[in-house]
Amino acid sequence: MRSVRRLWMTGALALLIGAIVASTAGAADDGLYRALGGDAGIARIVDGMIDRAYADERIKQKFDGVNPKALKESIRKQFCQLSGGPCVYEGETMAKSHAHLALNKADFNALVEDLQFAMEEQRVPFAVQNRLLALLAPMHREIITR
Ligand code: HEM
Repeated sequence: MRSVRRLWMTGALALLIGAIVASTAGAADDGLYRALGGDAGIARIVDGMIDRAYADERIKQKFDGVNPKALKESIRKQFCQLSGGPCVYEGETMAKSHAHLALNKADFNALVEDLQFAMEEQRVPFAVQNRLLALLAPMHREIITR
């Protein structure tokens, strides 16, 4: 009887420790999402970036005929998921959604610059900006096709 109780208590303790570890791991994972200001902060950043891109002489023609509202919504979800937030990005792969645009390195850098301006505008700390940019940088392999 005593050994059954001990077994039960050991199991309960293991569950408790597991829950604590899982909750602290989760908290660490969404650090960037929170540093960006959560859903509202990310929405402001993405709005700023896309508004700039649509007015950016270097790349604005790439956005001809593209609904900015839908694009913003999609990128918001992508950034939210990427930074560890509670969202699920449901859009296309980066390769599929950019293939027809024939983007080069200069186009990519122009959009990154627009994003940096938007983050500056929202007073996102430099180190936080760099953490988001570091997650986006590897995407150039899928996005740049010429
Ligand atoms: C790291 C860089 C980039 C990221 C993270 C990114 C992200 C995205 C996302 C999430 C979508 C929506 C896909 C979907 O909903 O299925 C999208 C579409 C699009 N992106 Fe990008 N993008 C990047 C670079 C660029 C660049 C450099 C340009 C142009 C200069 C660009 C122009 C577009 C356009 C025009 C669309 C809409 C395509 C369409 O609906 O026909 N993107 N991008």
